[in-house]
Amino acid sequence: MGQLHFRLAHVDDAAAIALLARRVVRRWIVAEQPPEGVRALEETLSTPAIRERLRAGQRIHLAFVDGVLAGLAAVRDDSHVSQFLVGTRYQGQGIGRRLWSRVRRDCMRRAGTQVFTLNASRGAMPFYQRLGFVRDDDPQRKPGKVVATPMIYWVDGCPWSRVSHDSRHPCATARRGA
Ligand SMILES: CC(C)(COP(=O)(O)OP(=O)(O)OC[C@H]1O[C@@H](n2cnc3c(N)ncnc32)[C@H](O)[C@@H]1OP(=O)(O)O)[C@@H](O)C(=O)NCCC(=O)NCCS
Repeated sequence: MGQLHFRLAHVDDAAAIALLARRVVRRWIVAEQPPEGVRALEETLSTPAIRERLRAGQRIHLAFVDGVLAGLAAVRDDSHVSQFLVGTRYQGQGIGRRLWSRVRRDCMRRAGTQVFTLNASRGAMPFYQRLGFVRDDDPQRKPGKVVATPMIYWVDGCPWSRVSHDSRHPCATARRGA
């Protein structure tokens, strides 16, 4: 891989972010979505929508390889990862793990975050499990138009594992699979 560097997005990055996001989503995510999910994704990932969120202060961590945008991770409220993707040709080289480490550190520094959530596409679940996320069965997390699996990450490890040794708990399953 070429020279890797990271920085936060500026409003001027919106078009490049939209281009990468739409390419990756079309290649990896659209096939598993109903039409309303595809429409919701296309709207969320349009240049004006991204520009608007950046103007409103959203933090999007960007990864560049030799100056070319290769991956991104967007966060809401210093705790919910709303977009996470790496360009197809750059996948499997550790960029996703490095982006996650930056998101985690940034949110913890800014807000003392201890719990992170996200909605995982089917193909990305093994990646998130590898990072320590587990499936979140909290009924409060209502499904949206985009079909995805709610996942959760505790900075200090799953709190239930300290009070319960129930081997059916998702954390126990994640530990067995790790
Ligand atoms: C999912 C995605 C973000 C991962 O980024 P990446 O840069 O390819 O991942 P990395 O190379 O940093 O992998 C990190 C770890 O996860 C593991 N991993 C990644 N994909 C995996 C898979 N499909 N199955 C099992 N393990 C996987 C790697 O082996 C690596 O393990 P290690 O660091 O312990 O050795 C990227 O592949 C992607 O954008 N996919 C398509 C879009 C998508 O689905 N985005 C998520 C939307 S919710």
